[in-house]
Amino acid sequence: MPRPEQSPSLPGYLQENETSEEFRDLIGSIPLEKGWVANHLHQYQGFWHTSRQLQGVLACQKHFQAQDGDIFLVTTPKSGSTWLKAVMFALVNRVSFPDPKQHPLLTDNPHALVPFLEMEYIGKEHLDFTNSTFPRLFSTHLPLLSLPKSVEDSDCKLVYLCRDPKDTFVSLWHFTNKLRPADRGAGSLEETFDKFCRGVSLYGPFWDHVLGYWKGSLEWPQRIFFLKYEDMKNEPKIQLRRLSEFMRCPFSLEEERSGVLDEILELCSFENLSNLEVNKIGRLPIGAEHRAFFRRGEVGDSKNYLTAEMKEKMDMITEQKLHCYGLKL
Ligand code: A3P
Repeated sequence: MPRPEQSPSLPGYLQENETSEEFRDLIGSIPLEKGWVANHLHQYQGFWHTSRQLQGVLACQKHFQAQDGDIFLVTTPKSGSTWLKAVMFALVNRVSFPDPKQHPLLTDNPHALVPFLEMEYIGKEHLDFTNSTFPRLFSTHLPLLSLPKSVEDSDCKLVYLCRDPKDTFVSLWHFTNKLRPADRGAGSLEETFDKFCRGVSLYGPFWDHVLGYWKGSLEWPQRIFFLKYEDMKNEPKIQLRRLSEFMRCPFSLEEERSGVLDEILELCSFENLSNLEVNKIGRLPIGAEHRAFFRRGEVGDSKNYLTAEMKEKMDMITEQKLHCYGLKL
């Protein structure tokens, strides 16, 4: 099949890599829907991906070797991944970087400090993560069933961060509008809402993604830590302490007394990170601007965008899909 000409000015996330015949066969055999930003979304193992992303998913499933001690931050897009990346990086590296005025988070975007697993593998087979921190930290949006087999087989831990679906949707709608080529304008709120509710969103269905990890966290509490954005906002110190214990790097009494927890929370706060020069300029290798990852950082902003009917519809889906498993979002 002839491939369309690509403009060199297209941002990375809209470019299509050269693909193998095997990949094209796969893409041709799985469900397809119109995308929010890229032309299409493809449903693989029950979840929706752009074709570019899917190449990374397949490559990391095939080649990534997890090691004992690795820690993965897992999220659906717009659940607060940037924030938790910063927090987890600061947490595990607090001895290496004791001075908050000299911290790498002041000069690097959190996404540059914690590799995004399936994105790293786009167009690549072999990657060397040996220079990463110890424990190695990774982030991913992969659903539980799509994680590379080596993650299941090794003694590593997963931190799952989820967020109210209404706020997640509104955040995703804003974010994807920033990624859309200017000549296409913003996506319609109603149309994208309908897609999100039908499960057709990046790494969606949202509720299936959350449910997989929720059940996993109940079954394997030592392996999967389930955290809510809202709890992290409302009681950050309590959640940071819980997180440190789960990640096998609990705070000592001395650290508690000397205010290390407050320092980490202040360093990683929305106000601090969003006002840093490094996060106001520059882009990720995939082309998204750093500043697109910082919008309002609040709980409940969806009320400013969704009608009462939309809110009711989404709450009903959440209730039907999650409440019977004891999960309230
Ligand atoms: P809003 O669009 O609601 O403001 P992700 O990092 O998974 O892409 O999620 C982005 C969302 O997290 C955005 O939500 C963004 O503003 C918010 N966010 C980014 N940094 C944050 C921080 N330090 N504290 C709280 N929220 C933050």
